[in-house]
Amino acid sequence: MSVLVLGGSGQVARALMAQGDDVPLVLRGRPALDFDAPDQIPALLTDIKPRLILNAAAYTAVDKAENEPEAADRANHLGPRLLAAYAAAHGIPLLHISTDYVFDGSKRGPYVEEDATGPTGVYGASKLAGEHAVLASGAQAIILRTAWVYAAEGKNFVRTMLGAAQRVPKLRVVADQIGNPSCADDLAAAMLAITRRILAEGFQPEFGGVFHASGTGATSWYHFAVEIFRLAAAHGRPMPEVEPIATADYPTPAKRPANSQLDCGKLERVFGLALPRWQKSLARVVDKVCAAP
Ligand SMILES: NC(=O)c1ccc[n+]([C@@H]2O[C@H](COP(=O)([O-])OP(=O)(O)OC[C@H]3O[C@@H](n4cnc5c(N)ncnc54)[C@H](OP(=O)(O)O)[C@@H]3O)[C@@H](O)[C@H]2O)c1
Repeated sequence: MSVLVLGGSGQVARALMAQGDDVPLVLRGRPALDFDAPDQIPALLTDIKPRLILNAAAYTAVDKAENEPEAADRANHLGPRLLAAYAAAHGIPLLHISTDYVFDGSKRGPYVEEDATGPTGVYGASKLAGEHAVLASGAQAIILRTAWVYAAEGKNFVRTMLGAAQRVPKLRVVADQIGNPSCADDLAAAMLAITRRILAEGFQPEFGGVFHASGTGATSWYHFAVEIFRLAAAHGRPMPEVEPIATADYPTPAKRPANSQLDCGKLERVFGLALPRWQKSLARVVDKVCAAP
């Protein structure tokens, strides 16, 4: 029986498929799995009969979501609710991914799982509604909140910065938002380690609930960008001037939390897992992007 990965060509879904050779993974994305066509989902699940579901599909366009709240809700709340209902009815575990943007950013220091949520935008609110629906379903559910996800492929800050540096000599980057850059490969490795454990020993009661799962170490978008360019310079890439700016100087449709650091101690205590330091994984990803033709 297979482990169903949802998320098509998304960063995390791709990373799962690239690493899960020893796990019987089956990938589905749009159009076969489309949260905008929910009527098709029960038949897809019945057809595949997964023994575990890894949900990495989501509406992730944070700013666009402000104008498309229904689409964000369908993908981030109603879709996961449907998956969780199936998981509950069939007694199979569901690993679902959520976000640091469920927090309002007003805390000093890293957030723990029990901290009060308070999303500042539509995307975060839709992901939080998804968390609540999954937890309320009665399914054997693990929710991994991650943050600032990047990979050598896909749409992300690292690739955006490297692309911009090819075009302009100077960039302005927000320096007063702090978070944990998380490499999709590292998150996928943690998800697969959890999957292997469940397949080996069954779903233990302590596995259920919310866990924080982000890269180790915190930084600002500005310092993240500076590190990207420092690493890329070793490959002969241009090193633009980077000006630190305040959030107020770069207005976006969605308000983002000023501090969304996640304390990942629970993931380590329960599963013995910690994602690597963000600088280490970033070096690997920048090498890969710069080596690509
Ligand atoms: N990216 C981040 O910085 C970040 C931060 C915190 C948490 N997360 C969470 O991490 C998880 C994985 O994110 P990611 O970075 O891998 O995202 P991603 O690269 O944007 O991929 C998302 C995937 O979801 C699919 N999708 C979007 N809307 C859908 C719908 N209505 N029905 C079915 N599939 C749909 C997309 O399909 P198409 O390829 O067809 O568009 C895409 O394959 C998500 O739960 C996200 O909320 C991400």
